[in-house]
Amino acid sequence: PAAHTVLNLREYETIARGLLDPIFYDYVAGGARDEVTVRANEHGFARLGLLPRMLRGSDTRDLGVTLFGTPSSLPVFLSPTAFHRLAHPDGELATARAAAKAGVIMTVGMASTTSVADVAAAARQAVPDRAPALWFQLYLQPDMAVTRALVRRAEAAGCTALLVTVDSPVLGIHERNKRNGFNDLPPGVVCENLRDLTGSEPGHIRQIAMSADLGWDHLDRLREMTSLPVVLKGVLHPEDGRIAVAHGVDGLLLSNHGGRQLDTAPATVDLLPDMLAAVAGRVPVLLDGGVRRGTDVVKALALGATAVGIGRPVVYGLAAGGEDGVRHVVDLLREEIDHTLALCGATAPRDLTPDLVRTVPAVPR
Ligand code: FNR
Repeated sequence: PAAHTVLNLREYETIARGLLDPIFYDYVAGGARDEVTVRANEHGFARLGLLPRMLRGSDTRDLGVTLFGTPSSLPVFLSPTAFHRLAHPDGELATARAAAKAGVIMTVGMASTTSVADVAAAARQAVPDRAPALWFQLYLQPDMAVTRALVRRAEAAGCTALLVTVDSPVLGIHERNKRNGFNDLPPGVVCENLRDLTGSEPGHIRQIAMSADLGWDHLDRLREMTSLPVVLKGVLHPEDGRIAVAHGVDGLLLSNHGGRQLDTAPATVDLLPDMLAAVAGRVPVLLDGGVRRGTDVVKALALGATAVGIGRPVVYGLAAGGEDGVRHVVDLLREEIDHTLALCGATAPRDLTPDLVRTVPAVPR
């Protein structure tokens, strides 16, 4: 079906499922072990209701926010997801063009199948009159020279923040991938950001190292090597939120990696109030996991999140329609958020307050 006939983000999943190699679909849709957390993220939103206010809205609404100095037309950004060239031949280039034209921030993954320099060039070409709104996602590498080389690549490409993923001391176990034997990229598709890093022979692609030996001191060393804002992705315990702020992070992305790391980690939206209390307004708290509707975005913002990220819906939009598919995913959310704000008597994200959110029994689908 043409992109304009698709009505919502969940329909994009259905369409992508029909188009993608089932092994790659399972890689995207799946998560760790029993996939309890994958389901919990969406269920967390289903157990919240919105209680609207009346007779106080406006026909002019402003959905824009500024995140760590980067303007965004929506309180929504693209969370990092790996391997876009497995979803569509244009891969991350298509995603970047769509995000740039929609005026939202794309997070380029360390595991992207296009180099961050090429992604940035595509974004710049798509909107020549604006600076590209790109963040870079980094797994801290135990060899800090490798970490530094990656940071320099992100800086040189013009990325305006680093999202440092800390929930992956070891890789999550995805039983779907084991069952399907998915453990390698097809020939010709590689993690381009890891090509020719620090003294290997030309063309060599480094592996992403995961290490349980990483500690807060590694974060301190990263903090010293760049002036870019550093946002920690994947802290869930409120105590870690406090420690992160003490170590000078610029923000937190409350994320359980879409249920792909520790299975049975709680839904992110359920953890949001405790994390906000721990951080006490000292840095912005973003959230991702299970956001599929404008009402989900509004619930998270009303509870106190500054913005929310979307992961799988971007990959599904990309699979279904390349650049146009990703653009449509973002535009669908834009329309839904705007409509929800109107129905709630709000003119901008700042009008949303926690009293609009009520815990309700989840209504069966
Ligand atoms: C991810 N995510 C992710 N996160 C990260 O920090 N580095 C990465 O390389 C990836 N790769 C990745 C691949 C795929 C296919 C998915 C689905 C997810 C996690 C991602 O940034 C985000 O936290 C979740 O996707 C958010 O949940 P939803 O929106 O997918 O429910």
